[in-house]
Amino acid sequence: MEPALKKSRSDSKNPYLSHLEDGSDGLESVSSNGLTRRATTVEAVEKAENGPNNPFNGIPFSEKYFAILDGRRQLPVHQQRDEFLKLYHENQIIVFVGETGSGKTTQIPQFVLYDELPHLTNSQVACTQPRRVAAMSVAKRVADEMDVKLGEEVGYNIRFEDCSGPNTMLKYMTDGMLLREAMNDHALSRYSCIILDEAHERTLATDILMGLMKRIAQRRPDLKIIVMSATLDARKFQKYFFDAPLLAVPGRTFPVEIYYTQDPERDYLEAALRTVLQIHVEEGPGDILVFLTGEEEIEDACRKIALEADDLLREGAAGPLNVYPLYGSLPPNLQQRIFEPTPEDTKSGHGRKVVISTNIAETSLTIDGIVYVVDPGFSKQKIYNPRIRVESLLVSPISKASAQQRAGRAGRTRPGKCFRLYTEDAFRKELIEQTYPEILRSNLSSTVLELKKLGIDDLVHFDYMDPPAPETMMRALEELNYLACLDDEGNLTPLGRKASDFPLDPNLAVMLIKSPEFYCSNEILSLTALLSVPSIFVRPNSARKLADEIRQQFEHPDGDHLTLLNVYHAYKSSEGTSDWCWNHFLSHRALISADNVRNQLRRTMERQQVDLVSTPFEDKNYYVNIRRALVSGFFMQVAKKSANGKSYVTMKDNQMVSLHPSCGLSVTPEWVVYNEFVLTTKSFIRTVSSVRPEWLVELAPSYYDLDDFDNNKEVKSALQKIYQMAARSKKGSRK
Ligand code: CDP
Ligand code: MG
Repeated sequence: MEPALKKSRSDSKNPYLSHLEDGSDGLESVSSNGLTRRATTVEAVEKAENGPNNPFNGIPFSEKYFAILDGRRQLPVHQQRDEFLKLYHENQIIVFVGETGSGKTTQIPQFVLYDELPHLTNSQVACTQPRRVAAMSVAKRVADEMDVKLGEEVGYNIRFEDCSGPNTMLKYMTDGMLLREAMNDHALSRYSCIILDEAHERTLATDILMGLMKRIAQRRPDLKIIVMSATLDARKFQKYFFDAPLLAVPGRTFPVEIYYTQDPERDYLEAALRTVLQIHVEEGPGDILVFLTGEEEIEDACRKIALEADDLLREGAAGPLNVYPLYGSLPPNLQQRIFEPTPEDTKSGHGRKVVISTNIAETSLTIDGIVYVVDPGFSKQKIYNPRIRVESLLVSPISKASAQQRAGRAGRTRPGKCFRLYTEDAFRKELIEQTYPEILRSNLSSTVLELKKLGIDDLVHFDYMDPPAPETMMRALEELNYLACLDDEGNLTPLGRKASDFPLDPNLAVMLIKSPEFYCSNEILSLTALLSVPSIFVRPNSARKLADEIRQQFEHPDGDHLTLLNVYHAYKSSEGTSDWCWNHFLSHRALISADNVRNQLRRTMERQQVDLVSTPFEDKNYYVNIRRALVSGFFMQVAKKSANGKSYVTMKDNQMVSLHPSCGLSVTPEWVVYNEFVLTTKSFIRTVSSVRPEWLVELAPSYYDLDDFDNNKEVKSALQKIYQMAARSKKGSRK
């Protein structure tokens, strides 16, 4: 047998052909750039796949490999391998659609690998995913399928976590990460093939990437592009990509019966729990998938269902039921549990699992064995109102397309049932056809900065699949101009260039870059990391009061940002054990992840020569400096106490807001800076610290121009006083 393959550019031999006894079957073709591409036939590929040695690392295949291989060959896309390769060879761009679970995400990149052999030309294949969870989980699965170590030949790259290396030839990555790579390498030259997966999700990053791909494709005829999508919006993608050919995998799906409720449900959560238990007791074998909107709701539902199911089992009224949550911020090892086998049937009834998931299970992840779907009809969606510059996550009704996709999850392995917890009338008349693409629902500051860094100056004429609203674009340009990331002509400034190198929102990036001027970059670095991870505070329903009391140990009277920092410092000096976190009602996982983010950001700071400095802790300005640094990035997120003395009003946008219940300020300061605007039934500001108005006019004079405050006399006169005082003290000091 052939020895382990050496990676070298000159070795143009098709490595797995050498495994073949007869050594034939490789078809050579010449691609448009003149390089020889080894076009392969399915027969040749299958022989290599069945061979004794792994063609990608030369190591003998394991038994597990062959076990998975059989299953892979059953997937619908496998039937289309020939057709796929033919289209792939003949075209630069192809659109590929297929039912969720047909094997697109796991198999197509491998078809490409066997064909392209990217390791022989030092190139790579990228496959983008809108979600971090999916990128990690699929990379792990494909590493198993290819019998290689995750992080070696197959890896993944998500924000703040790069699990890939010099040997990586297939990289699953979030769409946002590929966009970041493009910022530094406009032609994405290290890739021979880019697969944009889940294109139908139309995330902001995917939309920008698609526009970018069109440009790159024209400059790089050697680059292959595959656009993959789950739904039937294929025509739109084809048209957008120069009438690219379409390959559709016929779905191997079973019919799904749809049930609606007779009357609208008042409490969808309660209705969902009831439905799950009813299915468990009454229906034939098969697992259950429930769609809810977020972590808290899902964990709560899991607890309640598990309790009730235990009762049913004990009473002999039903079989065993395993309950699994699934959402983006769940640690990967817990996410993988959804693939655990279903419990055995018992005398009392069918054993089942129930997965309670966010939208992730709609298309990104496929769980085999689901027969029942419970769809309350909601998901958490981002919305943006450019008029008041507020972006928020709101629980909103899903679209018809989403509802259909959800129902389809029930028919993967045999005929299934979907229980919609809304009326048929509501489905027909109230749900919109398609979810609006994210680019129409987002603040675009980060995107505009990225586009500028990508060298795209004419933002208006960029080839968007759906162009964003002009007002949203104007807002983004304006914000970046106030942050001094763009100059008055809209060109990237040196600060903007630096800021774009950080995988952060522009205001966080600017705060971090400016923090050495306030002698507190070490602290602002920690704070930025803490603001970039899920909440570090744990507040279980059963021990709310105790959790709040313990939190008070860390509280700083001047604000939540400082409290966060106090927690982090205590964590670091306690050696960061999980016991310590548990006892202090802190999330060990979130703190570890904050530490990791901190390290990553520190590297970017070092590369960008942003100094790491601190004010001595004993200095009376230690905390003042930190609050001033906060203002340097967040001066557009400031609110002033209103005349009623209770609520606050935001600068310029004049929104009435309240401090979020989680806010730890015991006295309510006159002026505050906030990290987040939270819109539920009421408007809240969350993570709030007190600031002095003098800092606002000193650090952001162009934003705090008095002429811009004519629509709020109260704020205007307060600012006027500050300006007068500042002028007086200047005069005084000159004398
Ligand atoms: O992308 P698409 O929805 O077409 O399918 P896929 O993600 O490639 O999944 C195909 C099959 O691979 C699934 O039905 C599962 O049987 C399996 N799979 C798995 O076992 N574990 C994963 N983490 C991902 C996929
Ligand atoms: Mg997929």
